[in-house]
Amino acid sequence: MNPPGIAAGMSVEPLSVAQPYLIQQDWDAYTPDQHAIWAELVRRRMPQLRDHAAQEYLDGFQQIGLREDTIPNLTHVNRRLAPRTRWNAIPVSGFLPPDAFFEMLAARQFPTTTYIRGRESMEYTPEPDIFHDVFGHVPMHAHPVFADFLQHYGRFCAGLMGDKEKLEKMGRLFWFTVEFGVIRQHGKIKLYGSGLISSHGEGTHVIEGRPEIRDFDLDLVLNQKFLVSEEQKVLYAVDSFDQIYEAAQLAELRLR
Ligand SMILES: [Fe+2]
Repeated sequence: MNPPGIAAGMSVEPLSVAQPYLIQQDWDAYTPDQHAIWAELVRRRMPQLRDHAAQEYLDGFQQIGLREDTIPNLTHVNRRLAPRTRWNAIPVSGFLPPDAFFEMLAARQFPTTTYIRGRESMEYTPEPDIFHDVFGHVPMHAHPVFADFLQHYGRFCAGLMGDKEKLEKMGRLFWFTVEFGVIRQHGKIKLYGSGLISSHGEGTHVIEGRPEIRDFDLDLVLNQKFLVSEEQKVLYAVDSFDQIYEAAQLAELRLR
């Protein structure tokens, strides 16, 4: 049987380790105030993103039919996303253990929380929520090269379970691409990492030129320590999304 969130007529690979974490998104249960929080968060981010997000992110936002005024219904998102890249956003109960997380990525299923933050944490929430997961991550999954990169990443990491050192290095590749990635487009630094897209503070920090931006270099990235709780001091800019796809393949050759 398909996991929750999959549109009728679409089929996805069955999951095993991640199965206990799958939940339903009860879209009708969101309150008007929760939709209003989503709308406020989107309104807060969009003016900056129109000028400073990667074009692929902005295109993805349109392509998967995200709306500025209501919390996304994941079944509707998947109806538009899956035919493009075979990715689906799948509702889960919260943080996943690494093996379940990688299993889902390898199956082109992005674990997505359904909870939305409260007004007391408009800028930052330590737990991921649907704003970070869907507004921040999912539009990039409509991009074919990024989509393949993410599956490849999950598949390789799923095979590294138990190898703490290699997983730590791969965690850095994720951090400096999927979460805090930037790309050079038309001579300017543009945001595509979900941590930058979904956080006004982190996005502004980059736009104001505070972190050092280095050219993406796989060896540097695999060895670059970072702190989750602080604004980023160093970021790595790619020139195209092909570069991160190639980096995932190269990382596999290096770490296998
Ligand atoms: Fe994230």
